[in-house]
Amino acid sequence: MVWRLNRIAGIPAFIVIVFYTLSLVKLIARLNPEDDVIVRDEAPGISPVFALADEEVVIGNTDPERDGNLPPATTTNSSLTSEVKMLHVLSYQRSGSSFVGRLFDAHPNAFFIYEPLSMLFTALYGIMEDRAIPNNIFFDHYGNFRNLSDDQSKLMTWTVRNIFECRLSEFPTAMLISNFWYRYQDTHMSIGKDYVKCMEPARHLNFSGGDEGLGVCLEHIRKPCPRSYNTLDEGLLNRCRSILWHNDTWSDTDSDELWAPYEGQDFMKYRQNFRQYFTCLKSLEPRVRQCARGHLDTPCKNAELRVVKTVRAPIELSRILFEAYPDNFNLIHLLRDPRGVTLSRLRAEWAHGYFERQDPDPRVLSDSYCRNAQRDVDERQALEAEHGDHIKELVYDHFMGDLRGNGRSIFKMLGMEGSVRKINHIIEGKADIERKDRWKTWLKLADIRAIEKACPWFMHSYNLTLYEENRILQ
Ligand SMILES: *[C@@H]1O[C@H](CO)[C@@H](O)[C@H](O)[C@H]1NC(C)=O
Ligand SMILES: *[C@@H]1O[C@H](CO)[C@@H](O)[C@H](O)[C@H]1NC(C)=O
Ligand SMILES: *[C@@H]1O[C@H](CO)[C@@H](O)[C@H](O)[C@H]1NC(C)=O
Ligand SMILES: *[C@@H]1O[C@H](CO)[C@@H](O)[C@H](O)[C@H]1NC(C)=O
Ligand SMILES: *[C@@H]1O[C@H](CO)[C@@H](O)[C@H](O)[C@H]1NC(C)=O
Repeated sequence: MVWRLNRIAGIPAFIVIVFYTLSLVKLIARLNPEDDVIVRDEAPGISPVFALADEEVVIGNTDPERDGNLPPATTTNSSLTSEVKMLHVLSYQRSGSSFVGRLFDAHPNAFFIYEPLSMLFTALYGIMEDRAIPNNIFFDHYGNFRNLSDDQSKLMTWTVRNIFECRLSEFPTAMLISNFWYRYQDTHMSIGKDYVKCMEPARHLNFSGGDEGLGVCLEHIRKPCPRSYNTLDEGLLNRCRSILWHNDTWSDTDSDELWAPYEGQDFMKYRQNFRQYFTCLKSLEPRVRQCARGHLDTPCKNAELRVVKTVRAPIELSRILFEAYPDNFNLIHLLRDPRGVTLSRLRAEWAHGYFERQDPDPRVLSDSYCRNAQRDVDERQALEAEHGDHIKELVYDHFMGDLRGNGRSIFKMLGMEGSVRKINHIIEGKADIERKDRWKTWLKLADIRAIEKACPWFMHSYNLTLYEENRILQ
């Protein structure tokens, strides 16, 4: 039970509060609901130093503690007492989820992981980092809803459960050296700071010196594997996946078995590429796994609240988590006025799904958001019948209008009333509340109209007034 000890124990509460307060002031000064994911366009080159590291490595030198296998579906252990709180912030790109996530990232008793599913898709398909655009996961390349594949839904669940059960060190090396940990450590996921610092001395891995982490290894399989995830490339993606994730296990070395299905096929010519990829990862594995144990698993175990934010998961994931952790799990479903979402999406070409690329007009961009949100809200109702006390719907725009009240009710749901009062005060003073209304001045009236027409359900359900009406009234 040692791991349940509150990590602020022994430190006078006011120091913690002052610290938290200062962190929040600092963080909130740069809060920006628009900044969900940043995509880089250029593939990183292979650094010569890194290539050298590959040659030095002995293949097959496995870490005895490595366990790439999926845990059994029902690993819920009694060690998860009801005092451990778990929270899934389920949201959509450009919906203010970074802002809401930051509330937990800055909380001294919370362990917060920012969108682990992007790393998962990269590790699973060998695509470039940050190239699993949410709308290419929710929709096919024609813009129709798609269901996750069995592997995808199983692994999404596995990923989030590993976090909730503080077993991040069991992630495949490809996830553990994702550039993600470095890129978001200052702004979104401060837990990454110590972890990145620990990883850097690993052979030649130096994020701050410009190394791309996983990107360097991914270069080896750039030819056989598509750069991004989308259903148009499903055949090629699944081929890469079949090597990287085989027989329900993360592959970490080359073997004849992996290639048996491709005997005599053209794909065989890439075997060497994958071999190099595995070797590249292997050189880093012992160190990063050790770092993950000390700097991810341990702080996770010490935290009273474990929080995962996603913009790539359907609400089905939350349903599974309620089943797995009936006494511990909580859900925040975060939505935002579609006009705000759309303005933000218009300005972020990299966040467009394949089907939106040809014609990214406001109607198309709002339609996909609203369809997705509506589907999740519909499915949420069944969950609410059973778990209503542990589900909170937040509409970003309303949230910003009453930070104090909403903050209080979030922490009340979590049974953490103690920490809330001062926090809200700070948030209220510092948050960029105007941002939520920016669409009113930045969108053309015709575009506002188009969005309102594309999202009648949303407008009605959340009592959002048509903008034109407002204008006439004023
Ligand atoms: C739960 O954990 C305890 C102690 O670590 C162990 O003895 C027990 O076998 C575990 N139960 C299950 C179902 O895994
Ligand atoms: C997705 O799964 C549901 C339930 O199994 C099924 O009814 C639906 O037709 C599927 N949709 C697609 C696009 O395959
Ligand atoms: C990483 O690179 C930075 C910038 O080049 C350098 O200052 C730092 O010392 C390097 N760290 C390690 C561990 O090599
Ligand atoms: C697949 O995994 C199972 C369990 O881990 C193992 O028993 C089996 O031998 C594996 N199959 C192949 C073809 O490797
Ligand atoms: C919208 O307004 C109706 C009637 O005033 C109210 O009952 C309902 O709770 C409101 N819904 C939301 C989401 O605010």
